Amino acid sequence: MKVLITGAAGRLGRKLAPALEANHDLILGDVAHLDDPRFVPLDVTDLEAARSAARDCDAIAHLAILDWTGCVAAEAVRYAADAVRVHAIGTYNMLQAAWEAGVRRFVYTSTVSAVDGLPPGTPVGSDSRHYSNGLYGMTKGFGEDLCRMFHESLRLSVTVLRLGNLFIPESGGAWFGNVYVLDLATHPVPGLTPSRVHVDDVTRAIALALETPEPGYALVHVVGDNPGRQWDLEAVRRLYGWQPRYTFGADGLPVAT
Ligand SMILES: NC(=O)c1ccc[n+]([C@@H]2O[C@H](COP(=O)([O-])OP(=O)(O)OC[C@H]3O[C@@H](n4cnc5c(N)ncnc54)[C@H](O)[C@@H]3O)[C@@H](O)[C@H]2O)c1
Repeated sequence: MKVLITGAAGRLGRKLAPALEANHDLILGDVAHLDDPRFVPLDVTDLEAARSAARDCDAIAHLAILDWTGCVAAEAVRYAADAVRVHAIGTYNMLQAAWEAGVRRFVYTSTVSAVDGLPPGTPVGSDSRHYSNGLYGMTKGFGEDLCRMFHESLRLSVTVLRLGNLFIPESGGAWFGNVYVLDLATHPVPGLTPSRVHVDDVTRAIALALETPEPGYALVHVVGDNPGRQWDLEAVRRLYGWQPRYTFGADGLPVAT
């Protein structure tokens, strides 16, 4: 398949391309430059650019986001406006472009932050609507609604993957709640993060979501099967045969299962 990845220069995008390239022709779209012949400049907030990147594609993995890392509270107002533009308008544009191009599958990487407003410990099923108290989670949740709307009104085939907190071995660090620990090997970790998921498990889930012909619409969770996990993994197992190959303990480090 010809697959467009948006946000391809980001943390996940840089791992997703190598995971997909053996089986698919890739187009790597981002506002940030990538030194790769498959790179196309793409600002998802520009509908014409979205249309041009999506043309002739069979599938789209829509990853692009505005990162909050490094921002301080004083920047929240600017972040709010930009996050709405990139997460809401950008996702709308990519869905519209996908539908016009007749793509067979649109995969949207959402986040467990979209349900972080639910009381701690609440079991979160695949049918749980988003509910967040943060700008990032709220705007990503709006993207989930857009995905459902494009499926229900236009029959676009869409999978929403609510990803947990990514563990990328090369980066050396990871999120613990709202704290990013730069180097797990040398810094004490603040405690268990039940949503942690290994990036290899995530790229495998995205590949399955792109390649599995059915269902026409799904929302599933992609997290490690960790102690304290709230997010249901039954649907992702049933629909895609996916289950995590890594779990995480209180030290934040992965254990292969
Ligand atoms: N990293 C995590 O722990 C995590 C957890 C849950 C979900 N996710 C989801 O996974 C996806 C990828 O996350 P990531 O960690 O790789 O993010 P990232 O911030 O590392 O990468 C995002 C990329 O999007 C690009 N981008 C920003 N604005 C853009 C625009 N207007 N048009 C096109 N590209 C634009 C950036 O340049 C960047 O390369 C996101 O959808 C995110 O919500 C990530």
